[in-house]
This record gives sequence, structure tokens and C-alpha cells, in this order.
Amino acid sequence: MKKFLAMALAAVMVLGVAGCGSSSDEKTEENTENTEQTGETTEGTDGIIKMGVSADFPPFESYADDAVTFVGFDIDLMQEICNRLGMELQIQDMNFDAIVTAVQTGKLDVGVSGITITDERKESVAFSDPYFVASQSILVPKDSPITSYEDLINGDYTAGVQLGTTGDTYSSENVKDAKVEQYSKGFEAVQALTQGKIDAVVIDSHTAKEFVKEAEGLKILDEPLTEEEYAIAIAKDNKELMEKINDALAKLEESGKLNEIMLKYIPAE
Ligand code: ARG
Repeated sequence: MKKFLAMALAAVMVLGVAGCGSSSDEKTEENTENTEQTGETTEGTDGIIKMGVSADFPPFESYADDAVTFVGFDIDLMQEICNRLGMELQIQDMNFDAIVTAVQTGKLDVGVSGITITDERKESVAFSDPYFVASQSILVPKDSPITSYEDLINGDYTAGVQLGTTGDTYSSENVKDAKVEQYSKGFEAVQALTQGKIDAVVIDSHTAKEFVKEAEGLKILDEPLTEEEYAIAIAKDNKELMEKINDALAKLEESGKLNEIMLKYIPAE
């Protein structure tokens, strides 16, 4: 549970600083210090990519043990893209359900947070080429009577989800009487599960695996529920950035770098 605590503490901090020399733009004590440590200078807004994350989603984005540094697949991916584009990466932590709007309204340049491409989101933002294939999973206590998706949706159970995620949509549409508890952060749903307040959590599979490692007494049901693709969300009118990012993504794929990042966070089983 130590990691949960670190994440919970980190969650109350609005901004953090990524590894690999990224820095955040608000002058809080912590990140000013970190900016100094990296010794980097900001070269005006044009050279900066502002990225929004909900840093509660290992192995894609979470806080390192210092509760300040961002780590994960999405962080490394965007850092590599920024390196290629010669741009500086600034990362802002926020609730997941705020990211798409922040991109749409131009508060952020990109949303990179294990964001699944959906038709609904496409009405508000544009998506890069996909960089990862994922699915939803069901997390339950080891001794749970729920053994399948059918059990969960047809029984008298409450599912916990992260607000505004595909797990939320999927559960709200399918669970009987829509008995769904929405939490701002994914780990809050998992905590509620370990405390017996809810019966299951519907969340992306790789994150479910990370939570199972950290929390005792939980297991993942075998059948994955959906197939989803993660992509980078960009404002619809920012065609220039979209082109640059897709180009960088293609090069990272060709060079094997994308695969390298993937294996760093999701070792082959
Ligand atoms: N893939 C899911 C979605 O797009 C969940 C993403 C949650 N990401 C996060 N960083 N908490 O809705």
C-alpha cells in the first residue's frame, strides 16, 4: 500500500516535473527547484509542448517514489517526441475527465494519458495515430463471487470506475441498474475495493495489473472486455503539431524506440 500513499499524496499536488529534463511552468516551490536542477531555460511558448496527464495510471503515468517526478510509458514517449522535435516538455497533472476539454480549449497542447480513441472524444479533439492497443479488465477481491463479466453486469453489484474513462462509460451502460461509483482517481476506486465498499473495478488491463501488484487480495478476471487504442489528443485546429507528432511517432516506431519504451514498462510475459 506504500505506493498508493505516495500516489495519494502526489495527487494533491497540481503540478510535478518529469524526469529527463522536463519542467513544469507554474512557479510552485517544488517545481521551481526542479527547473533549477535541470539547468534548462525556457525558450518561449513556441518551443514548449504542454502535456496533460492524470498521473494515477501506472505503467503509463504515475509519480515516482519522490512523489514529484512523473514516470511511465506516456512520459517517456512524449519526452522522446519532444527530443526529436527539439521542444521542451511540460507536464501538468489533472483529473482525467478534464484533459480532453483542456486540449480542446487550448490550455494544453496535448493530452497523453492512456487516452482511448472514441467517437465521442473525436467530436472535441483530434487524435494522433494510435501508439498502444489496450483493453478493459475487471478487478475483484480474490474471494469474490464475481467470476465473469456476466456476473458483474447481471448481479446485484457495484462497479467502481475512474470518472470519464471508457471503463466508466462501459460500466454505466452495462451494469444492472447502473450501479457505478465514479472516482476522480483510479487508485481511489481500487482503495474502495480493498475496503469492501464496492464489488469490482473496471479499468484498463495494464493498470489493473499494476494495482494488483501493489494491493493485497485482489485479482483480475481473465476475459478482457474491450479492444481500445491509445492515442495523443491534440486540438483539431493544431494541424501543424499533429503532423509533427505523427511523423515523430512513425520514426519512433521504425527505429524500434517505441517498442523499447513499451518493454521498459510492460515486460513481455
Ligand atoms: N483508456 C481509458 C480512457 O481513455 C482510461 C484512461 C485513464 N487514464 C489515466 N491516466 N487515468 O478512458
